[in-house]
Amino acid sequence: MSLTNRRQILLSGIFLWLFAVAGTTLVAVTEYTTGDRIIENERQLLLRNLYALLPVDKLDNDIATDTLELPASTLLGTDRTSTIYRARFGGKPVAAIFNSVAPNGYNGKIHLLVGVFVDGSLAGVRVVKHAETPGLGDAIEIRKSSWIKGFDGKSLSNPRQRGWQVKRDGGEFDQFTGATITPRAVVAAVHNTLLYYQQNLNTIF
Ligand SMILES: Cc1cc2nc3c(=O)[nH]c(=O)nc-3n(C[C@H](O)[C@H](O)[C@H](O)COP(=O)(O)O)c2cc1C
Repeated sequence: MSLTNRRQILLSGIFLWLFAVAGTTLVAVTEYTTGDRIIENERQLLLRNLYALLPVDKLDNDIATDTLELPASTLLGTDRTSTIYRARFGGKPVAAIFNSVAPNGYNGKIHLLVGVFVDGSLAGVRVVKHAETPGLGDAIEIRKSSWIKGFDGKSLSNPRQRGWQVKRDGGEFDQFTGATITPRAVVAAVHNTLLYYQQNLNTIF
């Protein structure tokens, strides 16, 4: 092999190495900077959802930091620890907001925030993550329909147990046209969260 050829191969090698280093650095820097932004965006979304569930004049603590980690629970639909957020006024308990999961949506898990006032009535429910079908199951989202507001003020005694189903199953909650599975899963998950609250009231506050 001539000296010129060897020099060319060496130069190509150096260029390849430089490209590899530059590419890897770019990916690492992008991931580092956007990772922080994604976490912050998720935090902001969580805060907006938390405060949307509670009347702001009814609490005076920092709800986002007054948290408690709950162990995995069948009633909450969780298979690992989950965070609850606690609202207080003058130190007295006002409400708890649960991260609950409906495990049996049409397309898998539906993640919910369920706000429960200290008396066991619902402050409200919001869907934070789901994979239900657009135009069918996604009416559980507040920006698609007001269906989720139907839980406001409900409790274990209003309606009684039988009412905690969709109308098709003999309960009080509307299903959607051609989509009963999604609302059925959400109704059951919200009811289970209320049962959890009732059974664990003393450890929550
Ligand atoms: C492609 C496709 C997507 C569907 N997505 C949903 C869905 O997201 N949520 C839901 O409840 N039903 C969905 N359905 C309908 C269910 O299969 C089922 O028929 C329905 O929930 C039963 O409600 P109904 O008894 O009121 O028809 C979907 C059906 C098809 C074919």
